[in-house]
Amino acid sequence: MGKIILFGGQKGGVGKSTYATNMSAILAINGYSVILVDSDKQESSYGWAETRGENENLATVDVAKLVLRNNDKSKILVNQLKSFSEKYDFVIVDAGGRDSMELRAAISVCNKFFIPLKASQPDFDTIPKMIQMVDDLEIINPDIQFKILMSMISPNPVVKENLEFKEGIKELEELLDIKIPLLNEEINDRKTYRDVFKEGMSVLEINKPNAKAKKEMNALLKEVLK
Ligand SMILES: Nc1ncnc2c1ncn2[C@@H]1O[C@H](COP(=O)(O)OP(=O)(O)OP(=O)(O)O)[C@@H](O)[C@H]1O
Ligand SMILES: [Mg+2]
Repeated sequence: MGKIILFGGQKGGVGKSTYATNMSAILAINGYSVILVDSDKQESSYGWAETRGENENLATVDVAKLVLRNNDKSKILVNQLKSFSEKYDFVIVDAGGRDSMELRAAISVCNKFFIPLKASQPDFDTIPKMIQMVDDLEIINPDIQFKILMSMISPNPVVKENLEFKEGIKELEELLDIKIPLLNEEINDRKTYRDVFKEGMSVLEINKPNAKAKKEMNALLKEVLK
C-alpha cells in the first residue's frame, strides 16, 4: 500500500504546488513510483507535469486531475486516491487553497498532511481552523499526521518574521494545550523554486542546484519518507 501525501491548507499562494511538484520529482528520482494528483481548479501542478512529460530525460511522474463538480460526492475522490495508493508508492495531492470538498476528502484519507504557510499574521490565523479541520476528520482518519511548513521565508536575517511566527506557535500551543507540529527546516524564498517550476523540474534536477534549496527539499523528503 502506497502513501498518500497531501499539500493543502486554507491559504492561496503559499507554495503548495511548488512543494507537491518538487516532492513528486524527488521521490521519482529516488526510484519510487509517483502519481501527482491535482485537485485544484487552477491546475498548476497538472501543467508542471505536462511540461515534465515532454522531457524524456526526467524521471517519470504520472499525473491526474481530480476536481469535484457540484453534485459529486467526496467519496469519488477518496476512492480514487485509495485506488492510486494501491498502484503507486506515493500519491502526492495538491489541494486548492481554501476549505473545499477536495481538501476535506484528501485529509480524510491521507497519511501526511503538509500545510505550507508564510510567516505572516493572516497565514498564522488559519492555524486554529486547520487544527479544527484535522480534529473533525480524525474520526475517519485516526492516523493522520499534519505538519506546518514555514514557507517563502525571507533569507535576510534582519527580517525576523520567522521568529515571530515560531513564538506565535508556542503561544498557541499553550493556549490550546496541544502540540503543533512544525518542520524544523524553514523554506526560504528562493528564485530557483520559481525557475524550476516552469521547466517541469525539481530544484535537484537543474544544472548546479542551489545547495540551500537542496537542503530544504531533502529535509522535506525525509519527513515524507518517515
Ligand atoms: N520557496 C519559494 N521561493 C520562491 N518562490 C516560491 C517559493 N514557493 C513558491 N514560490 C512561488 O510563489 C508562487 C505561489 O506558489 P505556489 O503556486 O506553489 O503556491 P500555491 O499554494 O500552490 O498557490 P495556489 O493557492 O494559488 O494554488 C509561485 O509563483 C511560486 O513559484
Ligand atoms: Mg497551487
